[in-house]
Amino acid sequence: MNVKTIATRPIAGQRPGTSGLRKKVTVFEQTPYLENFVQAIFDSLDGYAGQTLVLGGDGRYHNAAAIQTILKMAAANGFGRVLVGRRGILSTPAASCVIRKHRAYGGIILSASHNPGGPEGDFGIKYNTGNGGPAPEKITEAIYANSGKLTRYLTLDAPDVDLDLLGSTKLGDLQVEVIDPVADHADLLASLFDFDKIGALLRSGTFRMCFDAMHAVTGPYAHEIFIKRLGAPAGSVINGVPLEDFGGGHPDPNPTYAEQLIATMFADDAPDFGAASDGDGDRNMIVGRRFIVTPSDSLAVLAANATLAPGYAGGLAGVARSMPTSAAADRVAEKLGIGCYETPTGWKFFGNLLDAGKVTLCGEESAGTGSDHVREKDGVWAVLFWLNVLAERKLSVEAILRDHWKTYGRNYYSRHDYEGVDSAAANGLVEHLRAQLATLPGRRLELPQGTFHVKSADDFAYTDPVDGSVSTKQGIRVGLADGSRVVFRLSGTGTEGATLRVYLERYVADPAQHAIETQQALGGLIALADQLAGIRERTGRDTPTVIT
Ligand code: G1P
Ligand code: ZN
Repeated sequence: MNVKTIATRPIAGQRPGTSGLRKKVTVFEQTPYLENFVQAIFDSLDGYAGQTLVLGGDGRYHNAAAIQTILKMAAANGFGRVLVGRRGILSTPAASCVIRKHRAYGGIILSASHNPGGPEGDFGIKYNTGNGGPAPEKITEAIYANSGKLTRYLTLDAPDVDLDLLGSTKLGDLQVEVIDPVADHADLLASLFDFDKIGALLRSGTFRMCFDAMHAVTGPYAHEIFIKRLGAPAGSVINGVPLEDFGGGHPDPNPTYAEQLIATMFADDAPDFGAASDGDGDRNMIVGRRFIVTPSDSLAVLAANATLAPGYAGGLAGVARSMPTSAAADRVAEKLGIGCYETPTGWKFFGNLLDAGKVTLCGEESAGTGSDHVREKDGVWAVLFWLNVLAERKLSVEAILRDHWKTYGRNYYSRHDYEGVDSAAANGLVEHLRAQLATLPGRRLELPQGTFHVKSADDFAYTDPVDGSVSTKQGIRVGLADGSRVVFRLSGTGTEGATLRVYLERYVADPAQHAIETQQALGGLIALADQLAGIRERTGRDTPTVIT
């Protein structure tokens, strides 16, 4: 084998964020940016000689070139086998599924998730461990430490591998198997849900769905599952051809960026059910006819109705949600008498709970929902789960939500994002909040919008109940006496300046008040957030960039 040892030097800033290392494509294109990080990953792992690595990405610009680089480095570093998706494609949940099913040592996923793609867009890379989940902080920090002391990387002098054809080839001593990116994942999903009932609903002619793949990775998965296996009419999937730049769009399934789906679902002849997924297929948005389901509510509804799906008929072990996610799921867990866990933002924190069998369902307010079937959130899984519930309950999406709120009360919820804020201003804002934490509890704040009694204020810290690891500074929480709360944190996935996220939540038990519009219901909290953090003054912004 023609292994080359190339001298290199550390590159600053290769610290993985909420979900891997994300930078502009133009940064990743500069050799040895990617090479250094991949070598830092391999240098952080033990005992992988001869083992299997899973490799794939969301197909965005630079995916194909990066895959070839990583294949050669995997060969030179001594992996025995790489399972790579055809044309370098694997959605994030599919990669997790393949790692688990084929008992791989780990996997590398190339994606910047919902961030825009193309030559001027974003690129990303993350490492997943043998359980199929994102590497925990212990490993991501080791990768970062190794990136800071690199002196060389290993690669192979060899031609590129043809990734268009399924099958096995050799790259030096490495066995490269090009696999169907959809089959394993589709088979797993078919084992969890009642495909006969869902198929009958989709073929009935009285129920229509619209799935928006946003020109991202879920197109082929949606075609195989909704159209081929379940028999939905061809037009049920839109924007189903993956493009390297996602058609110039922002592949984030939220009401702002999934405009076409929202327009379709709010038209006079709207379908009964709408859904979208993001760049790498792990997020989901659920929409009824003229009705948007918040991700926090979606988690709660799935938890409450879980036993309707065959894969969950035995009940749930517990549920987990990220801290900023609304407490709607907590109410369901309480009623079901099952465990409920609050974790920091980022899917990697669910891994231990899932592995230990403490929880079955997990969710984040950022349009992520998933279960113990893989170790990533899973967009198409969430859509199938909803279809299974709809097929069983024979109610509209809106009716299911209204019924849910009647039983559990409604957690009004919204997230306000201020994107591309000056980093120093954003850090200053967080420091300003931290400085108030000690004195806020017990205070009454008088605003034109009302009087607010602060009950608690802290910077969220989490102790993992399975391995005892501690994660601090995970977001500023301000809790009010009536159970409402405001949470502030800075994004760990952006590539330009800082993104301030403000999470607002208010619980209303009385069904007579469940028809109030969300931003109106949260008006007082929105004013309070500005008062506490000085958002307008410090960021210079009057309104958020994105409201979800
Ligand atoms: C965002 C979301 C978070 C999610 C992550 C990866 O991270 O808020 O819930 O896990 O993307 O999809 P953030 O940018 O807030 O750090
Ligand atoms: Zn994603």
